[in-house]
Amino acid sequence: MILNSAGDPERVQAEAELWRDRELFRYLVQGVTDYAIYMLDPNGIVSNWNAGAERIKGYTPDEIVGRHFSTFYTEQDRARGEPQRALSIARAEGRYEREAIRVRKDGTRFWANVVIDAIHDEAGKLIGFAKVTRDITERKEAEQALAQANEELMQSQKMEAIGRLTGGVAHDFNNLLMAITGSLELLRKRLPSADEKSLRLVDNAMQGVQRGAALTQRMLAFARRQELRPEPVNVGALVEGMKDLLMRSLGPTMEVTTAFPDKLSPILIDANQLELAILNLAVNAKDAMPDGGTLTISAREASGGGTAGLREGRYVCLSIADTGEGMDVATLSHATEPFFTTKGIGKGTGLGLAMVRGLSEQSGGGTTIESTVGKGTTVLLWIPVSDASVSVAPVEVAAAPEEPGNARKLRVLVVDDDVLVAMNTTAMLEDMGHSAIEVHSGRQALEAMAATPGIDLVITDQAMPQMTGIELISGLAERWPQVPVILATGYAELPDGADRNVPRLGKPFMQRDLERVLRQVLAH
Ligand SMILES: Nc1ncnc2c1ncn2[C@@H]1O[C@H](COP(=O)(O)OP(=O)(O)OP(=O)(O)O)[C@@H](O)[C@H]1O
Ligand SMILES: [Mg+2]
Repeated sequence: MILNSAGDPERVQAEAELWRDRELFRYLVQGVTDYAIYMLDPNGIVSNWNAGAERIKGYTPDEIVGRHFSTFYTEQDRARGEPQRALSIARAEGRYEREAIRVRKDGTRFWANVVIDAIHDEAGKLIGFAKVTRDITERKEAEQALAQANEELMQSQKMEAIGRLTGGVAHDFNNLLMAITGSLELLRKRLPSADEKSLRLVDNAMQGVQRGAALTQRMLAFARRQELRPEPVNVGALVEGMKDLLMRSLGPTMEVTTAFPDKLSPILIDANQLELAILNLAVNAKDAMPDGGTLTISAREASGGGTAGLREGRYVCLSIADTGEGMDVATLSHATEPFFTTKGIGKGTGLGLAMVRGLSEQSGGGTTIESTVGKGTTVLLWIPVSDASVSVAPVEVAAAPEEPGNARKLRVLVVDDDVLVAMNTTAMLEDMGHSAIEVHSGRQALEAMAATPGIDLVITDQAMPQMTGIELISGLAERWPQVPVILATGYAELPDGADRNVPRLGKPFMQRDLERVLRQVLAH
């Protein structure tokens, strides 16, 4: 704007001051480098540009003045008409403010706090917009990291809680099953063999119990409270050994391929549970490939640390991959949660992946899943490498030879806080020709030992209030070191450092399991 002020010294003075103010103001705006400050004409064309704008967005004034400000928006925002919407809001309400993603000259994106103010002249006519943009990427990233950490914490607390609940339910449930199995078994023995109909009913009930026991096993596995017997395992050999079983359970439309390197370190894990985990994963793969496909099981050695929250160390990464329908992001994020299933009522319990994850974590490793809808799913099990080498043939505990002739009649003290379970064990023992005394706490057990001479053997539960089975065992060892004790336990409830050599009976047990341990104990 040129002002004709010749001849009026006061006006000259005033104009000079005005000019100086404007220059100062221009310096001020130019000098700001933390904020992009610039103006748009009423149509959204950039009309000036400060140093902050150049620093944040990467354009020099020459490159950007005269271009439309929608250049700073992402493709998607432009397609949605965001720039126009921003201007019309600023036009109608005087101001527009947002936190959103914007694009720099080099194509990189950043989080921006954007303010657009409508500028009017004295007559109230819109002459353009003032735009101030701040780069808030750092703050946004910190916020997102915090939110994610919170989310992860909540998730792990939720899992803890579900784990405790599941473990507790499974423990009680196991005791009930114990009572049912035992009674059914004895009932079956007493039924005349001619009564086939009744025998069938008992067998049906028995099968139901076995399914229940399998279910509690998976629940305990998820809760990381199952009784594990880790040993050095050669995964390649284990999987090869399962191949027939896998092919049979998957059916003819499914191809099973395996690929293991020649030299693969043994891993430390419970072999039976690992087989069960692989079987669970294979069944999932089968369900995901209704029209057939390929299941590929392979392994490689890898170092932990960073991956899947693993500690530093050496792991074998076992991969079970299918070419099935895959999972969407929402399903994937819940897949390993217990009782999460998409398979409908009665079809899936939602414990398969929970069991797999529980097993890998209880074994000191972890589970990761990669999945793409329409492409397939790969489950990776990370299991720590064992330092010991694999024994050539798994050592089976040789069952002591049966000697029906001179089978000793024993006097057994049965300790269980669950009355049903204690009754059941007693019934089994009596059926085998032994006699039993039942008590329901550690204290009662010590009293009974003192009061009753001639007790040959003690069978005790582990989880009991006041005095646990382990505590009872050390109490007994002080005064009656010659009396053997069998510990009946449904899950890995033994404290660290507990004597692992105490003979064990896994709950729920059948009469033949009881017989086997008795023979082992007496053989010593
Ligand atoms: N290989 C896979 N491909 C696609 N989706 C899968 C796969 N494995 C698991 N899922 C999804 O994760 C869910 C949970 O799996 P999980 O094995 O825990 O339970 P389930 O198979 O539904 O029931 P269960 O195994 O107890 O009978 C499944 O319902 C399914 O939606
Ligand atoms: Mg499953």
